[in-house]
Amino acid sequence: MIPYKKIIMKKYCVYLSLIITTFFLSCDKNDDVDLDDNQISISFEIEISKENTLRVIANNTSVGSSGLTSYWQFTENGEQVPDIAGPEMYLYTASGEYLVTLTIEGPTGDIKKSQTIIITGEDYVPPALKDATDKFSVGMAVRSGRLSGKHNEVLMRDFNNLTAEYEMKMDQMFKSQDNIDFTAADAIVNYGVANNMDIHGHTLIWHNTVPDWMKNFSGTNAEFETMIENYITTVVKRYSGKVRSWDVINEAIDDGSNSLRNSIFKLKMGDDYVEKCYQFARNADPNVLLFYNDYNVAASDSKRAAIFSLVDGLKAKNLIDGLGAQLHISIDSPSKANIEAVVNGTISRGLLMHFSELDIRVNPNNDITTLTEEREIAQQNKVKEVVEIYDAMPDANKFAITIWGMRDNESWLPDFWGNPEWGLFYNSDFTAKKAHAGFLEALQ
Ligand code: G3I
Repeated sequence: MIPYKKIIMKKYCVYLSLIITTFFLSCDKNDDVDLDDNQISISFEIEISKENTLRVIANNTSVGSSGLTSYWQFTENGEQVPDIAGPEMYLYTASGEYLVTLTIEGPTGDIKKSQTIIITGEDYVPPALKDATDKFSVGMAVRSGRLSGKHNEVLMRDFNNLTAEYEMKMDQMFKSQDNIDFTAADAIVNYGVANNMDIHGHTLIWHNTVPDWMKNFSGTNAEFETMIENYITTVVKRYSGKVRSWDVINEAIDDGSNSLRNSIFKLKMGDDYVEKCYQFARNADPNVLLFYNDYNVAASDSKRAAIFSLVDGLKAKNLIDGLGAQLHISIDSPSKANIEAVVNGTISRGLLMHFSELDIRVNPNNDITTLTEEREIAQQNKVKEVVEIYDAMPDANKFAITIWGMRDNESWLPDFWGNPEWGLFYNSDFTAKKAHAGFLEALQ
């Protein structure tokens, strides 16, 4: 009989050898892992962009390298650009002869392929969006950390209006009842003033950006209302003469019921909180333009009707100057007629029209994983349609078209929809997409 201790050792050895065997067996079963390099055929295609002769589009066409890391170098020993699904774009800053290298990190070492490319293009810069019209301003949603370098170059070239994408909202500024932090907001406003840009304030009141501490406000409703009045007054007065317009309230209408959302503002200040907030803003600065801003204004007839009803109430008391239709749209909706319905309702009320957050989804059905030429052209056509509708308005109703972000890789859309999206006007290398051309075509 084998002593107990020896039995344990024997079993342990058996288990250990089983584990090792299993590991190698599993390795043998899976050919991808023990590929040797000659089963990987490295290749790539590269072409110079038709729109921009300083830009190349490179595509890894290697065989047998799936699951392996690969990267590009678009100049000799240059920065390593990760090779991700689909083509990579690279913008050269000057003409010249460049060595392009694709590297695959194979199981037994790097596999490389290089090709020399000759770039002869001029520094291609498309015509500026803001120069295409003097009837309305062209806006961009900005962040305080994106006001320099290439962001600044594009802003200075194409835009004469800016909106803070999130840093002028209550959850970012109203740190506590006694503390409003203007740091980021000041940076954005100062940049706009320094560059002689119109500044659109967004947004004083929004149920989605109530600071956490305010959700637990323990004072009376009257004290809450006084706090909100003080906040609106302080913020609007601070930027008087600098911020040209404000979204006083954003998205007050509930999509389903088409009535006022049961936000903390409604619950604590009453159904007339809307009128109160616009009155606070009007009192703080009689010269600043006051807007109401919402989404699905074009997409939903019933929501549009509810929004115009809210606007009519404010108009009757001279508490509103304009309507912001966000226009987070897609290549296939809303229809031209629905967008025109927004414009017509605004014109008939003698209000300014702000297409305030334009982006155009090209992947609404999540059926593509890379931006195709066909979808980019569809986006270009939708942008052209939107801008033509806007430009057909009487000049008295024109205010601005604002694009909700600069580069596709900076957009809120992919996170929100949970799938790849390319809703904006610029590629990740800051080159203009066809959407940019669509905007210009509408104004030619
Ligand atoms: O930059 C900070 C980062 O430093 C920090 O680590 C991180 C986690 O706290 O937050 C980052 O800030 C976030 C910011 O987006 C940048 O990503 C904010 O928390 C987040 O709230 C903010 O979301 C913005 C959202 O409004 C809420 O303010 C989106 O950028 C912005 O695109 C979105 O825009 C709204 C319009 O205002 C109204 N219409 C709908 C539109 C889309 O939701």
